[in-house]
Amino acid sequence: MKKNIYAVIGGAMMLLGSAACAKAPGAEEQAKETAPVAAPQAENTAKDKKILVAYYSYSGNTKAVAQQIARAVGADLFEINTVEPYPAAYGDLLDRAKEQIQSGTKPALSGRVENMAQYDVVFIGSPNWWGTIAPAVSSFVSQYNWEGKTVAGFFTNGGGGMQNCERDLNKLLSGANVLEGVTFTGRSSGAPAKALQAWLDKLAL
Ligand SMILES: Cc1cc2nc3c(=O)[nH]c(=O)nc-3n(C[C@H](O)[C@H](O)[C@H](O)COP(=O)(O)O)c2cc1C
Repeated sequence: MKKNIYAVIGGAMMLLGSAACAKAPGAEEQAKETAPVAAPQAENTAKDKKILVAYYSYSGNTKAVAQQIARAVGADLFEINTVEPYPAAYGDLLDRAKEQIQSGTKPALSGRVENMAQYDVVFIGSPNWWGTIAPAVSSFVSQYNWEGKTVAGFFTNGGGGMQNCERDLNKLLSGANVLEGVTFTGRSSGAPAKALQAWLDKLAL
């Protein structure tokens, strides 16, 4: 029953404009260091801080929010990718995600952030998958030392809201100064600009 609700919710979101294609792994995809895409011209910069926005996005909604945040605060962008692609068929995707979440699987990732030590602030983005963060985001978070960094989670959902996303991400961020997270209904056009800015203002970076 639960599964059918998520299938309907997620399917509806995809019909609303997300490109529902699985990520194909590139031939070059090994866990090598990758320079994040350099910061765009900031609209509202936390001047003296170096900021990264790292995100996982299966169908583009979380990516759209990540790009908005990077633009707003003048951050570098890093996309989290798995070595093994998720199934393109939605039912199979739901099943694979559920198996991984239930078993605590941390899928192998195809890249690492080059020189993570340089970042003072890291935004971490994930879609809500089965009420929690996507397994790729758990993999990502487990690869770095968060001691002394300021971190804020952002999430997109298909109607279920935050559920355990923020709680489960924060549990993995030992030593970080964790700020209040936010979730938006997933849309290919990203978050409503005013709501996103209100959250960023509240963080007071
Ligand atoms: C495997 C899977 C599980 C999902 N589980 C939930 C859920 O539990 N609650 C919810 O509100 N949305 C759920 N969704 C919908 C996504 O959170 C939503 O469509 C999100 O915006 C997708 O982000 P993305 O385009 O960045 O991948 C699920 C989607 C998928 C693919």
